[in-house]
Amino acid sequence: MADIIQLLPDNIANQIAAGEVIQRPASAVKELLENAVDAGATEVKLIIQDAGKALVQVIDNGKGMSETDARMSFERHATSKIRNIDDLFHIRTMGFRGEALASIAAVAQVELKSKRAEDETGTYIEIENSLVKTQEPVAAANGTSIAMKNLFFNVPARRNFLKSNAAETRHIIDEFIRVALSFPNIFFSLANGGQQIFHLEKGSLKQRIVQVLGPQYNARLVAVQEKTDYLNIYGFVGKPDTAKKTRGDQYFFVNNRFIRSAYLNHAVMSAFKEMIPADSFPLYTLFIDLDPAQLDINVHPTKQEIKFEDEKIVYAFVQATVKHALAQFSITPTLEFDLDPNIQSLDALNKPFTEDVQDAARSSDLYKDFSQKGQAHFIQPTDKTELRHWKDFFEKDGSQSTTRPPLEGDEGRSEKFESLLDQLKKQDGSDGSNTLPPAHQYTPFAKQLVDDNALLFQLHSTYIVAPTARGFMLIHQQLAHERILYERFAAAATGKSIAAQRSLFPVTLQLSAADAALLQELATDLNQLGYLIEPFGANAFVIQGTPADVSAGNEKLAIENLLEQFKHFSSDLKFSRREKLIRSLAWQQAIKPGTGLSLEEMRGLTTDLFKCAQPNITASGNPTYIEFKKDYLEQLFKR
Ligand SMILES: Nc1ncnc2c1ncn2[C@@H]1O[C@H](COP(=O)(O)OP(=O)(O)OP(=O)(O)O)[C@@H](O)[C@H]1O
Ligand SMILES: [Mg+2]
Repeated sequence: MADIIQLLPDNIANQIAAGEVIQRPASAVKELLENAVDAGATEVKLIIQDAGKALVQVIDNGKGMSETDARMSFERHATSKIRNIDDLFHIRTMGFRGEALASIAAVAQVELKSKRAEDETGTYIEIENSLVKTQEPVAAANGTSIAMKNLFFNVPARRNFLKSNAAETRHIIDEFIRVALSFPNIFFSLANGGQQIFHLEKGSLKQRIVQVLGPQYNARLVAVQEKTDYLNIYGFVGKPDTAKKTRGDQYFFVNNRFIRSAYLNHAVMSAFKEMIPADSFPLYTLFIDLDPAQLDINVHPTKQEIKFEDEKIVYAFVQATVKHALAQFSITPTLEFDLDPNIQSLDALNKPFTEDVQDAARSSDLYKDFSQKGQAHFIQPTDKTELRHWKDFFEKDGSQSTTRPPLEGDEGRSEKFESLLDQLKKQDGSDGSNTLPPAHQYTPFAKQLVDDNALLFQLHSTYIVAPTARGFMLIHQQLAHERILYERFAAAATGKSIAAQRSLFPVTLQLSAADAALLQELATDLNQLGYLIEPFGANAFVIQGTPADVSAGNEKLAIENLLEQFKHFSSDLKFSRREKLIRSLAWQQAIKPGTGLSLEEMRGLTTDLFKCAQPNITASGNPTYIEFKKDYLEQLFKR
């Protein structure tokens, strides 16, 4: 039989390899911005059209390329940044793999214009599908402009995988923000379809954070800074009151490179422990600088994951430094650093807190709050085992998120509901043995199980206890309300809109550019659901009215929470934007446990619940009530 193995043509090999680097327009944005930074640019402009699907262009004033380099830059494994493998461990540039431009040229049409300061003329190159179409001298400004057009024009299957413009634009903004935050001394701008979204003047890191994340953070950032021989850490964390319900503004940069690290994230979270609610996330923008020899950055094609030579030291250092920073700002006076003995010798950690700072902290009211048990902000000494078992803790942290709606589908029942039913079925499947009947009878689609005039009472400000003909039921006030609101909003979204109640004192809302873009996008749907929101200058809005259920004074928080909640859902493809919005609103407006209810309110809630098309579960699949039947209760008493 003939031999069957063949070498793939270059352009196909490139297309395949490109899949790792360029997954969506935002990947190209990251690569092109990083190239501009590596070229020493002080001004970088990003222009996108059609969410980057039609155009991603980056114009920089960096060092430019010679005619030959300009051509070479599109070859795979062509880089000016490393020469041998050792260089990888001294790397100070963002790029080093020499494959970004080759990948982009394999899956899009690219136009490059570049000129070095020392050259008279620049070079123009047009390349598509890895083939050079044009190369000629051109008059150009110093620096480089690269335009990537019609991404995936030659790989339709990939193009079809791209998400909605809103989703792709979000990814682009995320990448842009990461680069912009890590280089505050470079001017960056972003224009989307002719509209300027960001215009970030050079400045300090703090100025950049405020420019990017929103002016509301101006007075709410705590500086973090420690220097040791091993590593430096600097940046800002948000004061505890800026913690949000979703992981959003959390950034780690190692040697200026944005990285994702659940491990280091846990270090920061544990420094904030007891200062913020368990299911909320503090803001942070932290930079760790250390000898590149202590890192391996080549573990992932997008370079967003790295390996530390000694991860534990970095963990302990981050945790201690953040605690230290919070302490210095009198946010917490507890200074018990619980550190791995290996790093006790590190300078910064041994640095004594000056007496005055300590005294000042002790005499403050805050200290009293923090240092007495039973006070809202009391800080427990750090658990000694924490470092070793960070993983368990992290998982625990994750599971605490149950207060947020789960993301299961709405195809009738969620897994949770399914397993509950399974359990019941198993227990029900009487095999003649004298086991007790199920602890709670679940009665799907029950209608009006509770009499209108029944005497109801509230338990632990969380449940409503209601007698039924067959026993009694426990109604979960929050989940029940969530179901009621969900059905009300769903009806309003498709039919008659909910009337907005005009506010006497309209509230203005200042958002980050990314949130503003999101709110803009949701405006029509929100209008239908009873919110009157109007644009009011750059990234600002006026809330003119809200649905009657939102109490005055809470409008701003309601919208902020709503955006957070929406982002929480936004990675979930199963749901339409409207469904996500409705779920977010229902969750967010539902009365929370801890809210006392009058008899009238309990009756109203119970009646409304049983008017629902599906009163028994929330949209996410949690049961809204559990019924306990008489015969089961009798058996419990062994009768
Ligand atoms: N904006 C730019 N200005 C000047 N030179 C550039 C620019 N963009 C790319 N280059 C040159 O082209 C080369 C190839 O770029 P490319 O992004 O493909 O690889 P890289 O940055 O070296 O590594 P990586 O694939 O990790 O990004 C770079 O090494 C650099 O010399
Ligand atoms: Mg590069």
